[in-house]
Amino acid sequence: MSSDTATRSGERRLRSREWFAGNDLNAFIHRSWMKNQGIPDRMFDGRPVIGICNTYSELTPCNAHFRELAEQVRLGVIEAGGFPVEFPVTSLGETIVRPTTMLYRNLVSMDVEESIRANPIDGVVLLGGCDKTTPALLMGAASCDLPTIVVSGGPMLNGRHEGRTIGSGTSVFAMSEAVRAGTMSECAFRAAESATSRSPGHCNTMGTASTMAAIAEALGLTLPGNAAIPAVDSRRRVLARDSGVRIVEMVREDLRMSAVVTRRSLENAIRVNTAIGGSTNAVVHLLALAGRLEVPLELSDFAEHSQDIPLLVNLMPSGDYLMEDFYYAGGLPAVIAELGDLLHTDARTVTGRTLGENVESAPVWDDDVIRARRAPLRKEAGIAVLTGNLAPNGAVIKTSAASPHLVRHTGRAVVFHGMDDFRARIDCPDLDIEPGDIIVLTGVGPVGAPGMPEVGNLPLPKRLLERGVTDMVRISDARMSGTAFGTVVLHVAPEAAVGGPLALVRHGDLIELDVPAGHLRLLVDEKELHARAEECEPAPVTETSGYRRLFVDHVLQADRGVDFDFLVGKRGTAVHGDNH
Ligand code: FES
Repeated sequence: MSSDTATRSGERRLRSREWFAGNDLNAFIHRSWMKNQGIPDRMFDGRPVIGICNTYSELTPCNAHFRELAEQVRLGVIEAGGFPVEFPVTSLGETIVRPTTMLYRNLVSMDVEESIRANPIDGVVLLGGCDKTTPALLMGAASCDLPTIVVSGGPMLNGRHEGRTIGSGTSVFAMSEAVRAGTMSECAFRAAESATSRSPGHCNTMGTASTMAAIAEALGLTLPGNAAIPAVDSRRRVLARDSGVRIVEMVREDLRMSAVVTRRSLENAIRVNTAIGGSTNAVVHLLALAGRLEVPLELSDFAEHSQDIPLLVNLMPSGDYLMEDFYYAGGLPAVIAELGDLLHTDARTVTGRTLGENVESAPVWDDDVIRARRAPLRKEAGIAVLTGNLAPNGAVIKTSAASPHLVRHTGRAVVFHGMDDFRARIDCPDLDIEPGDIIVLTGVGPVGAPGMPEVGNLPLPKRLLERGVTDMVRISDARMSGTAFGTVVLHVAPEAAVGGPLALVRHGDLIELDVPAGHLRLLVDEKELHARAEECEPAPVTETSGYRRLFVDHVLQADRGVDFDFLVGKRGTAVHGDNH
């Protein structure tokens, strides 16, 4: 079978017709078994078949309301004359999955890609919410390149507890440190649990889920306003239904994902990510997405396109508010309108209009939540890219979440090899560590962990917390939660486990971090480093079989998006061979 093709009359033939048109054995079987669901014969008359790709799971609490959302999409598809078919793909609950959802992002993307290709689908609606679900959906769909629209699940309502606003992740990390410092009781900590997550939806801070929803909108892959509408707001359901209508039109217009996600829209996404104080995880996800679409994008593009972009959105972890406030303040359309000529406003979107046209009448209703360009939260606040002899292929730091007094800092390294070593020693009374030191963690990159877990925002030593220390420079080949904060250098590439220089750092070495200059240097002379490299034993292979073996054998480094080498690129939707 082939993907959709032009007929003699010049009309485009939908790929679903390869399954449902005609009167041969295969067509009989394809239609007949679908009819056991009560689908009437008229639905096989050539109308576009729309896949509703659902990451619903009770084990992904952030996406647990997706059945209702999918139903709204279904109504929209029918309203527009399409044939909706919902299908599940593997879901990833960030707070539940062990050891890390990042180990499975690529696996889910394969599930998405192969499910789309193997089935009679002409266009697809992607239902994503929790951190890795959105990038996995985007990557899988990109490799197929059908008309594609994204509907995000929306954020939870604001957390409120004992008169305070508490945000997902950000407040939890702060409260956890307060318990360790002895300034908050364990009882009070437990009581805050229910108040933190009090409605359906994903994390309500500008964490990775909110970031990826905003990025999907900035890329032009969603209807305007998608990123911020709270999960429980009826307007989220309206947006889902409208998206169902629009995807049918997109199939008729043959408006494919690759026509929307281009080099220019990726640059827009990088700039918007800077203006919203978005997650460092956006870096690996955008690099992987660009790879799937065969659009050149480098780590250095993040440095270049973040430049001169102010931080406009005052949300935790970089600011004070939460996603619900962001929606009431105008949401992402207001940010895009405010950024104006700092973006490629002529970039095409799924609406059929440009990004600029989509936000023509998008006001800011609260200028403390969404700042004007002339009065930003910070003038320059992007994700900085660092290079130097400690990170030859780069590392990143979220400057908006870093302490200003630490962004230029030279300190003594205190080194830990893996999280077991860290947990065993960080609170040892005899650990030689002072506030000006730099905590280095190795062995937590894509291959080393494996899966590059979100452990980079390491907890500070209890002893120093009790002395009032609130931040220290931390460096690792790991990632960190988008809800986290601190002067945290991440994604060091190449990672220690594949022979990166991070593996050569010894306790007491001096390290120089200079974020404004983009430097990360190990101040040890070349001869000594060479001698250490000679002595360095390669990390033993612990993953001998199964999916984890496939992962470590094929995963790319952080500067290449942590995708699998064999998944990079578009593969279209052509399928050869019949099943009967
Ligand atoms: Fe799902 Fe944060 S845990 S979005």
